[in-house]
Formats: sequence, C-alpha cells, structure tokens
Amino acid sequence: MIILSIESTCDETSVAIVEDGMIVYCNVIYSQIAEHNKTGGVVPEVAARRHVEAIVPVVNEALRQGGVKMGILEGHDTIQKLEAVIDKIDAIAVAQGPGLLGCLMVGNNAATALSLIWNKPIIPIHHIEGHLYASWLTDNCEKHDDGTFVHEILPYDIERDQKNKFPILILTVSGGHNQLITMRNHGEYELLGETLDDAAGEAFDKVARMLGLGYPGGPEIQKTASKGNKANGFAPGDPNKYKLPRAMMYNEHASDFNFSFSGLKTAMRTLILENGGGKHDNIGIEFEKLVPDMAASFEHTICDTLLIKLKKAAELTNPKEIHIAGGVSANLRLRGMLEATFPQNIGGPRILYPSLKFCTDNAAMLGAVAYFRYMANPEQYKAWQNSIPDTQLKFY
Ligand code: KG4
Ligand code: ZN
Repeated sequence: MIILSIESTCDETSVAIVEDGMIVYCNVIYSQIAEHNKTGGVVPEVAARRHVEAIVPVVNEALRQGGVKMGILEGHDTIQKLEAVIDKIDAIAVAQGPGLLGCLMVGNNAATALSLIWNKPIIPIHHIEGHLYASWLTDNCEKHDDGTFVHEILPYDIERDQKNKFPILILTVSGGHNQLITMRNHGEYELLGETLDDAAGEAFDKVARMLGLGYPGGPEIQKTASKGNKANGFAPGDPNKYKLPRAMMYNEHASDFNFSFSGLKTAMRTLILENGGGKHDNIGIEFEKLVPDMAASFEHTICDTLLIKLKKAAELTNPKEIHIAGGVSANLRLRGMLEATFPQNIGGPRILYPSLKFCTDNAAMLGAVAYFRYMANPEQYKAWQNSIPDTQLKFY
C-alpha cells in the first residue's frame, strides 16, 4: 500500500510517499528554520504563511521524486506521467494535530482537497504518533521486479518482528512533547509519564537562547558542547563542570515517570547571569569561554535525567525494544548514553532510534503510522471526509 503523507504542524512543510509503512520513496522537507532564526523562535502567523507558499511546490516535488524512485518518471517528465504516479497512491495521510492552528489548516486542507480530487481515502494522524514510528522507516532499499525488497539496513523484518517487537518502551523527546509510553501493539498505548512543564526540546531551545546560541537550540548546544568555540580554543565542553539539578528524582516522584525541566532552566539562567552572560548583544569574551562547558553540562544533565526514568520504566515494564523518538532523539550524547545504559551485547531490550533524517519533523513518519492504522480498520477511512485540525488531539 502506497501512502502520500503531509506534515505542517509547526515549521516544516513536508510531503512523503511511503510504501507498507516502511519504504520511503521520498520525504521532501521545506524547513523554515532560517526564517525563525531571525526571531529566535517560531512566530505562528509567519509559519502559517510560509506553509501556504510551500505546500503546492512541496507536493509537486514529492510526486516527482517519488515517481523517479518508483521507476515511473525519469526527471523532468510530463503531467501525464505525474498522473501515473498519482495512480499508484492508495491513500493520503496528514498530521491532524497537535500543532499551531494556522499551520495545521494548510496541511489538512491540502490533504482533504487531494483526497477529494484523487478519490483516495484520507487518514488523519497524530503528529507524535508519527514520531513513534520514525524508527520503523528506511529509504535504504531497492525493489525487485517480483515485488520483494533488497535491504541493506532494515529497521525491522515485517513478518518476523510484527510478532516479536512488542511491548516497546518509547521515550518521546520533541519540542512540545516529552513522554514515556508503552506500545503494546499498533494503536495500543499506555502513557507512563510525561513532563509537567517544559519538554526536553523546549528546554534545549530556551537555554540555547540564554547562552547566545541560535535556533533550534538542540543542534546548537550539541555542536558547542562537542566542538567548543573560538573563545575556548575549540576544546570540547566538560559535561561535569557544573552541577545542575535533576528534578523529580526524589521523594514522591522517585517512583513516577514524570519529568520537569523548569528548575534546570532556572538553574541555567542563574549560572549564566552569575558569570556575566544573559545579554543579547555584546556577549563578553570571558563569558564566551564558559559557554562550551555550560552547554555540555546542561546537555549531560538533561540526557541523564531522561535516562534515569527510562531505565526505571524498563525495569518495571520489561520491554522487548526501547525506542527514542522526536527531534531530541537526534542528539548524539543521548544516543551514546542510551547505548551505555542498555548494552546491546548482553541481552536485554533492543534499542532503536530513527535515522537522523527522520528524527525531526517530516511526513514519512506519518505515512508509517497511517499504513498500520488503515490496515487495522480500512472501513473507517473515506475520500469524502474532511480532516479538520485538532490542536489538542490525543492518541492514547
Ligand atoms: O520533533 P521536533 O522536530 O518538533 C516537535 O514536534 O516539537 O523537535 C524539535 C526539537 C527542538 O526543540 C530542537 O531543538 C530539538 O528537537 N533537537 C535537538 C537536536 N535536533 C533537534 N535537541 C538536541 N540535540 C539535537 N541534535
Ligand atoms: Zn515533531
């Protein structure tokens, strides 16, 4: 089954074509990061306008790239041939929510229109459920004439792992969400805990801003922590330089699976102000020298806090696999610490994280969920339904 999926929840306009919830033919992403870098964060009205400009060209590009990968097109082909690509598509998926309303309206209206015009069912998807499926995707494959695939690296074997994967324990770490979830089967989730205030990605973004780094903050903090900066002679930051608070570890919170990062953010603000930082312009060289150590200590603390709770949850739920999902799952320190916490050569749960290109917002991940949702209940999805944005959508 081939699904064309659309993502427009925040600052990425993305359209993908995915077969059987796994094989990515194309995953076109138009990112607004350069625009939002100017303001240090996403301005919803600006983001919605950019989606309006981008959606049609991105759909077009996805059809072209997908058509080439499927062997239907050869680069710059005619409209007639694009129609042959459209014929191959069985359904349209779209991120229905949560997200910024104006942004969601663009993707949902586009998906509804395509579903009506092409007469294909529409499958509304929860954006975070999409992130949960990012580690199921591969684009590293070729299709034989007999319909079988050659894979170099396949995140799962569809026949075998359908039975053996579950339960999966998933840590979602994105800009807006931070949860621990047990996935018992497709569509069967149990929320173990979540952040009571900021999500990990939000904390990365806010602290990066206080440190005078760019947007989005996660990659900037990772880069400064691992490579240093000019002021400190490009020496990697020391993750143990500053002792920072790990919240929700003691007393009544020791045994729950909730997170809180507002105390860590306040501790960073105090540390920055005490050391002469926190000014937007004219950051002094003496403060600049400290930024790599501050970035590394913050990054280490946040990863450590996430992993302490993840380890406890694994002991309680005994999962077959552990996945991390969402933008922060791209973080290399988090991946390294995860591997150290769950060594793969001594048995225990298998750990899996998405390919870097599928960590942050993209449409391919929605195509993966949509396939399993549709297969479970095809009657539910019709071409003449509207997909109406829902900023408060829930999936568990
Ligand atoms: O999942 P995502 O793309 O969007 C939401 O659904 O929120 O996550 C975006 C978040 C941002 O806060 C960004 O700073 C963070 O993911 N992020 C990272 C890294 N790459 C993206 N955080 C830490 N390290 C990274 N390498
Ligand atoms: Zn996201």
